[in-house]
Amino acid sequence: MEYAIGIDLGGTSIKYALVSKEGAMPYAGSLDTPATAGARAVLDAIATGVAACADYAEANALTPLGVGIGTPGVVSADGRRVLGGAENIAGWEGVDLAGGIEERSGLRTVASNDANAMATGEWLFGAARGASDALFVTVGTGIGSAALIDGHMWRGHGGRGMEMGHITVKCDGEPCACGGRGCLEHYASTSALVRRYAELAGDTGADGREIVRLYLAGDPTAAQVLSEHWAYLGHGIASMINVFSPQLVVVGGGISEAGDFYFERLRRSVGAQVIDVCAAETRIVPAELGNRAGCLGAAGLIL
Ligand code: BGC
Repeated sequence: MEYAIGIDLGGTSIKYALVSKEGAMPYAGSLDTPATAGARAVLDAIATGVAACADYAEANALTPLGVGIGTPGVVSADGRRVLGGAENIAGWEGVDLAGGIEERSGLRTVASNDANAMATGEWLFGAARGASDALFVTVGTGIGSAALIDGHMWRGHGGRGMEMGHITVKCDGEPCACGGRGCLEHYASTSALVRRYAELAGDTGADGREIVRLYLAGDPTAAQVLSEHWAYLGHGIASMINVFSPQLVVVGGGISEAGDFYFERLRRSVGAQVIDVCAAETRIVPAELGNRAGCLGAAGLIL
């Protein structure tokens, strides 16, 4: 059986897994992203995850064919460099990601945008199996996206892909880390939810999971910030549906695992804004593979 190591690099954590061509994941783990420590520290941390997978493989007589990495930002068409657009990780611009990991691990490495990797995972093994037209949205530290159009993963000119997190949802909005203003990511990411809760409730240290727990317990501030979250995310997704008329919108990222109520509210918010005929055949569904999608799709770059 053929195996590859899949890495899902996020602004908060690095997930790593050994993945078979059939999508089995005999070994997986995660570690914190040293997101403010600079590119070298992030490369070292990724290499730690790769080494853990390689050690497991060796102990079990499995041979990984290489390393696939999903990273925030725009990746060069040859799958080697992060060109930019990954502001949630300090110094993660112009980085020779594939070279840095090959040097540290001795394994052939290919990189891709993290949302593209998640989308590939969900297309091959998850919620979008058999689909021809789908939009994929990841909601986490940032907001990532990818589109499957007419049975092909859309890559954009030169593989520069799509950055739905940076469409404008508020013209006179606050500055976003990307240099623009009023971006969807600035208002609808999990980081935005946490920032907004702290603005209203003071610094309680509540993260996304805690805000959801507070919401379910009837906390009015959590209800307000989640309502704002659904409104902004709903506007962003509705705009994308108006553009692409996909059959599916697959939403992933930790917050999307909150439960059915999360999707009911999100669908309502999209429904209030979208052109009905564009959305007539669009289902908005949770990612099926959860946190595993990124690693599966990243390993798919090799397999
Ligand atoms: C980046 C995207 C990335 C997303 C999720 C955004 O800030 O611009 O490239 O896919 O975060 O990590």
